[in-house]
Amino acid sequence: MNTSPIITMFDRITPTYDKLNTWFSFGLDAYWRKEIIKAIPVKQGRILDSCTGTGELAHLMAEKGYEVIGIDLSLSMLELAKKKGRKENKAEFYQADALKLPFPDHFFQAETSAFALRNLPDLNQAFQEAYRVLVPGGTALFLDLTTPDLPWIRPFHSFYLTTILPFIGGKVSKDPEAYHYLGTSILRFQSRAQIAQTLTSSGFREVQISLLSGGIATLWKALK
Ligand SMILES: C[S@@+](CC[C@H](N)C(=O)[O-])C[C@H]1O[C@@H](n2cnc3c(N)ncnc32)[C@H](O)[C@@H]1O
Repeated sequence: MNTSPIITMFDRITPTYDKLNTWFSFGLDAYWRKEIIKAIPVKQGRILDSCTGTGELAHLMAEKGYEVIGIDLSLSMLELAKKKGRKENKAEFYQADALKLPFPDHFFQAETSAFALRNLPDLNQAFQEAYRVLVPGGTALFLDLTTPDLPWIRPFHSFYLTTILPFIGGKVSKDPEAYHYLGTSILRFQSRAQIAQTLTSSGFREVQISLLSGGIATLWKALK
């Protein structure tokens, strides 16, 4: 399907992806995923986890009783996602593009996506697709890593992302280029307000922004 350099990069770093995610976020990634689930306004229903990666969030939601479909373009990420999870309440996984979802209109109660927005080439298109597949009144929940609000933290944050992350990430994954990209993509990412504006222009009627852990992560909750 898609063999863009970003997807082949994710294919390469799959084996060490979960471990490095936890190390680099000091375990906060698990807390952030729980915050996404807490923000889902319905207790049951069908949820799309877009850019699901190794399926961590998808499996957590399935364990809570949601009917979860995870999609991603990276086959090796999907392979790992399929190996995880319990026998019951298992999420389903398919290879698909977040910019061209293979689902009918009004199919999901909610769409989630974690740590993926800054890797997508066209956010407008991704948000329009999310809007299309959601039922009227459905909710989109997007989480990504962002620049913290407090100005004095920013130099440390920037040093961490441009120096420590590629060094350790490079050694462990054997792919320093990938971790250089992942670090700098956070610093180059659009502002919270710009993302909210794109969500609104894609059709969403209300967008709430929540800063997590001082703003190193942000959750956008958008209502259709
Ligand atoms: C940083 S990982 C996040 C994985 C996961 N959501 C998590 O919480 O760890 C980003 C994922 O987005 C996927 N991806 C990038 N572009 C995509 C696209 N256009 N459609 C579907 N998946 C995509 C990558 O293959 C990768 O698995």
